[in-house]
Amino acid sequence: MAEHRHVTRCSFLSPLPIAATGSFRLPVGSRVSTSDVLIIGSGAAGLTAAVNLADRFRVTVLAKGALDEGSTAWAQGGIAAVLEPGDTFDHHVEDTMVAGAGLNDRGMVEFVVERAPAAIARLQALGVPFAEEAGALHLTREGGHSHRRIVHVADATGWAVQEALQRAAEAHPNITLVPDQVAIDLATGRHEERYSGAGHVWGVYALDRRTGRVGVHTARATVLATGGAGRTYLFSTAPRGATGDGIAMAWRAGARVSNMEFMQFHPTCLYHLEVKNFLITEAVRGEGGRLLNPRTGSRFMPDLDPRAELAPRDVVARAIDAEIKRDGLDYVHLDISHQPADFVRAHFPTIHEKLLGLGIDMTREPIPVVPAQHYTCGGIVVDRDGRTDLPGLYAAGECTQSGLHGANRLASNSLLECFVFGEAAATHIAECWNELPPPPPIRAWDESRVADSDEEVVIKQNWTEIRRFMWNYVGIVRTTKRLQRAARRIQLLNEEVADYYGHFRVTPDLIELRNLLQTADLIVRSALHRHESRGLHYTLDWPETRPDAADTVLVP
Ligand code: FAD
Ligand code: SIN
Repeated sequence: MAEHRHVTRCSFLSPLPIAATGSFRLPVGSRVSTSDVLIIGSGAAGLTAAVNLADRFRVTVLAKGALDEGSTAWAQGGIAAVLEPGDTFDHHVEDTMVAGAGLNDRGMVEFVVERAPAAIARLQALGVPFAEEAGALHLTREGGHSHRRIVHVADATGWAVQEALQRAAEAHPNITLVPDQVAIDLATGRHEERYSGAGHVWGVYALDRRTGRVGVHTARATVLATGGAGRTYLFSTAPRGATGDGIAMAWRAGARVSNMEFMQFHPTCLYHLEVKNFLITEAVRGEGGRLLNPRTGSRFMPDLDPRAELAPRDVVARAIDAEIKRDGLDYVHLDISHQPADFVRAHFPTIHEKLLGLGIDMTREPIPVVPAQHYTCGGIVVDRDGRTDLPGLYAAGECTQSGLHGANRLASNSLLECFVFGEAAATHIAECWNELPPPPPIRAWDESRVADSDEEVVIKQNWTEIRRFMWNYVGIVRTTKRLQRAARRIQLLNEEVADYYGHFRVTPDLIELRNLLQTADLIVRSALHRHESRGLHYTLDWPETRPDAADTVLVP
């Protein structure tokens, strides 16, 4: 496979006129901060962009809570890269395309796969202590990979990556890290003191949790690195803040969003009455773990797929869902107790300890597991430089649809995507700096016509309702009728939430609810659009896969 050389173009993807939204408010004095580049999100994608920009530019990074509260710190399995003798880039590309059910953009897959070994080397240089064996990196295996390919730090890879990136960012004098800033909406031409319809993005309005006031943060370039939208679903392995904020903000500002129907369900989330979202890494299956029907004690995957427990996630999650529904089970079992106890403890120390605290000893007994939402494959449309449709706006990581994942993400390809596109966006900003104009004066946030909320219960009620009907109607197996039911509920809730948003002072919960609903709407509309079953989108009304693979692209 020839190495992908990339020529930088400084113009933006076909700019679109900005969409009208009901969110715009008039100015009444609030605070403004300005930097060269503004990054929203302090996970793998945001911090990678920041450390790549900081030698030349003043960078501000916003996070909506603590800096380490994104999915990055929760990642367990690891990062995929071709490092095993006998493995090739072509194999990694092929595995990614097979998992993605042919919807991936092959050029983009090659672009990312080729950059993986260098990304791992840079993380090592930052001090990430990847596991080693006999003087080389230890590579584990996960579903859909034809080779051992996953570098990892035991079963807490994300934590080590987050720590290393955060350490590098904190040490850099040009990077300002600002936690507790809940971005509300992008500041565009519509918010300039002299109104402009050009669609340029100049930064973001954000609520400061500590003061309760909304400020505007401006910059020549803005990078969205806000992660996924897992919390649209009742059961998810993702952290509390995964409410699709960046996707919703970009959509409202006029950027296209694509492939939102492809929500990935991880096959093995712990089933426990109190602990609802603890992942049991796929590497447990990679190291020999077997899925068993708890009633019969027998394996069911070998009968369904030649790759058995290591089939891609969509296949395994659907198989577990079918097993649970057919036998009226609450869960299935994941069993690795046949491996030596020392081996299990050494490979999975975090999971082992967590389960022991819950009374489950995985070295001696099986773990009860169920599928849960895990990853958002769709998102803001970006090109190879991380550019979106809107001038001045870039995006990287889980909030994007870059063409890498297609209809189903291959395990451990997502942290990789964050490193590659975080760096690509930084490179493009640096190379095109002279063509990025400085931000004009932006109007301040107006709170003159809103009051404090008198019914917080509405937010809680709507939040739960969305997550419940998304789980029941827009889950692993779909039908047109169920999707239409979800669409009707979204329509009703849209009116209620817009009314609430228009009358009350924003709070973090209200901002998230509005984004959660927006994202649910994008998921359901995309799912209704796709008249076939492909990858993660499986519908009983259209069970066949069409010969032609096409992205679902929603235009605001
Ligand atoms: P995140 O790390 O999620 O960071 C999002 C950032 O955006 C946060 O800082 C957040 O505060 C900020 N933000 C969001 N909204 C706002 C707002 N409104 N205002 C201000 N800031 C905002 N992938 C792998 O490749 N390998 C794995 O082993 C793996 N394991 C996983 C295990 C679990 C349990 C989960 C949930 C995911 C796993 N993934 C794994 C997926 C991977 O972790 C994520 O895709 C990746 O970390 C996303 O990184 P990100 O930088 O795009 O976003
Ligand atoms: C896991 O460890 O199973 C998660 C890996 C991933 O989501 O890529």
